[in-house]
Amino acid sequence: MGAVPVKKPTKGITEYDLDKVIEQAQAIRLPNDEQILHVIPTQFVVDGQKGIRNPLGLYGIRLEVEALIVISAVTAIENIYRMLDRLGIKARGLVLSSLACSYSVAEPMEKDLGVAVVDIGGVTEISVFKDGELRASKVITLGGRHITQDIAIGLRTPYHRAEAIKLAYGSALVNAVVEDETFPLMDNGSNGKHVSKRLLASIIEPRVEEILIHAEAEIRKTGLADSLSAGVILTGGTAQFPGISVLAEQIFGLPIKIGYPFGLNGEQGAVRSPAYATTVGLIRYGLEGKYLHSRISPSIATIVKEEFRKWFA
Ligand SMILES: Nc1ncnc2c1ncn2[C@@H]1O[C@H](COP(=O)(O)OP(=O)(O)OP(=O)(O)O)[C@@H](O)[C@H]1O
Ligand SMILES: [Mg+2]
Repeated sequence: MGAVPVKKPTKGITEYDLDKVIEQAQAIRLPNDEQILHVIPTQFVVDGQKGIRNPLGLYGIRLEVEALIVISAVTAIENIYRMLDRLGIKARGLVLSSLACSYSVAEPMEKDLGVAVVDIGGVTEISVFKDGELRASKVITLGGRHITQDIAIGLRTPYHRAEAIKLAYGSALVNAVVEDETFPLMDNGSNGKHVSKRLLASIIEPRVEEILIHAEAEIRKTGLADSLSAGVILTGGTAQFPGISVLAEQIFGLPIKIGYPFGLNGEQGAVRSPAYATTVGLIRYGLEGKYLHSRISPSIATIVKEEFRKWFA
């Protein structure tokens, strides 16, 4: 929460007042090993009147802001910069990955109505949007890796073979798999042991279910579960499992969409996959100049714009 007197009440609220109040909201005591990554205003209050999304130009004498403050460990931030430095990449700022992801899979209208983005990659990142803004974000340390591990154990096969089997023959819904279909356990041709696709699905389904049940519980904890009119968007590599949206519909009781990055132009084959949602979203975030009120230098936009504008419609 931040609060400031409006500088020139007769002229209405200006950018100056906005900057000041957001600066105020950031004035929180943090341990030395943590730092602010984003300040996302969730509502403004003008002379006690709540629920204002854009106070610019309104008249009043006192401006308050309620904001979601995203904090990160300093060492994590430093490690990312160090790694990019070694790759010869100069980063102008960092973006919370689930926030970046939302820019490629959730339309502004969906964020307005209320939507949850569940990004199932190596781990699972959940973000909840309402009235156009990020309201909550959470990471569950369960994801695609665990599904592969389950397959490796269940079929007694090395991890890399389990991963290949998962991608080629996996399904998140046992009932959707045709009976009698099989695949070779090893990749040394068609001789050797064959395994039923149903058996494979019976290993995958409970783990996907577990991940989704955890995600649903986290969304419920935000108190916004009943106001997500735009439902749930599943994205990340694991969202490509056949049958996952049927399973998710049963668990969330909400409309489910698979999040393919949208608005891409031209040759898009490889990137038009839920696995690239975060990467595409990060670029779009830069293009839209959404660094506003986050700790990211505006100059990122100019660099990114030239490089990637041609990607988008
Ligand atoms: N077609 C597919 N069907 C099922 N799972 C898949 C498919 N393609 C990729 N995956 C799984 O998705 C996971 C990787 O997803 P993604 O690329 O979104 O992760 P990431 O963004 O690199 O990881 P994180 O977000 O956790 O840092 C892996 O476990 C991979 O096996
Ligand atoms: Mg990811």
